[in-house]
Amino acid sequence: MKIAVLTSGGDSAGMNAVVRAVVKAGILRGCEAWVVREGYEGLVRGNSEALSGPSVDQAVSVSLPEAASAVHGSSFNLIHNLRFGDGELLKDGTGDYLGTRSLKGRYIVRVGFDDGGTLIGTARSKAFRTPEGRLQAADNMIKEGIDALVVCGGDGSLTGADVFRAEWPKLVERLHAEGRISAEKAQAHAHLKIVGLVGSIDNDMSMTDLTIGAPTALVRICEAIDNINSTASSHSRAFVLEVMGRHCGWLALLAGVSGGADFVFIPERPPTAEHWEDEMCDTIKQHREVGKRKTIVIVAEGAIDCDLKPIKADYVKDVLTDRLGLDTRVTTLGHTQRGGRPCAYDRVLPTLQGIEAVEALLEATPDSPSYMIGIQENKITRVPLMEAVAMTRAVSAAIEAKDFEKAMSYRDPEFKE
Ligand code: F6P
Repeated sequence: MKIAVLTSGGDSAGMNAVVRAVVKAGILRGCEAWVVREGYEGLVRGNSEALSGPSVDQAVSVSLPEAASAVHGSSFNLIHNLRFGDGELLKDGTGDYLGTRSLKGRYIVRVGFDDGGTLIGTARSKAFRTPEGRLQAADNMIKEGIDALVVCGGDGSLTGADVFRAEWPKLVERLHAEGRISAEKAQAHAHLKIVGLVGSIDNDMSMTDLTIGAPTALVRICEAIDNINSTASSHSRAFVLEVMGRHCGWLALLAGVSGGADFVFIPERPPTAEHWEDEMCDTIKQHREVGKRKTIVIVAEGAIDCDLKPIKADYVKDVLTDRLGLDTRVTTLGHTQRGGRPCAYDRVLPTLQGIEAVEALLEATPDSPSYMIGIQENKITRVPLMEAVAMTRAVSAAIEAKDFEKAMSYRDPEFKE
């Protein structure tokens, strides 16, 4: 089997570890491993390279079976069993370079699992959203003999993956009818195997407890709050922090807990009071009265009030200034949350999930659904990709319908008021 891996949509820390794991596990299991650069855009443009070379061979010669067999274990088992072999790599001076030469003999990519972002590039491809773009992508893949794809991205990217797989037989038929591929190729590539891994800082995908990159973004936000805490306290100031997360409040909520915020606004739980300003000011006043010298309010980028009107950091600042007389500043953390080196967990999780992705591809049949690799209750899981995407979409629909309880239950089936 020829497996290609790509990263798509907004980058997230841990994507390089996905590429590394898929390449290593793929080669170990007797497959050819390819990377596609610039996400789906690279598929459309035929920008893919097979990985090989001494560093890859060495990488897979050590200890991977134990890692793979540990995938279904608890984290203690994983820690006990996991030896992934990078120490061996270091000895030959190649460091963590993986596949430094493509089969075509050019220097192509350094897959350092400890680097932030994605070294093979990502894009939000317009071309792939068109049927013609997907036809071109299928043509390029078949010409290279690629028959399996691992896509690491957010819900948009994973929806794209599912559409592509569903459409695949028709695309093959059309390519053959137009004389672009032979009958043998059409028969050999009658089915496409796809597995999705969720790479997103937002942690907004249902049916998995964590998305790759979310823990690192949380660390970044927490560090920022720690830094702000000291200056806020020195001046007895209030700070309003806007954090990313699109329509999901996970980053804001967890940052609030880990950074000790006074008030947090998230999309899934808008303030119930019509005049939420009173509630926020009362809470902060109480905190000040017991002696707090600083105030931290976190506003998720998708925060809304109970009428679905966006709550903006600048407005919150004005309320704190005008009603409580607090000297208030706004800090928008922006893309600093998304960049930088992955924390340890964003190296371990994508490694385990990348190995599982290869196993899922090897076991796939034309009738089995495309799977998304997730993690639930500390176990690596496979769930039907489309079910996870549909449930994620249902969260947004529930929020739009002002059914916030339902929104929370789609995010977390265990959720109780
Ligand atoms: O989905 C990841 C994310 O960082 C969101 O939190 C944010 O809304 C968006 O991407 C920003 O996108 P861009 O990098 O295109 O500005």
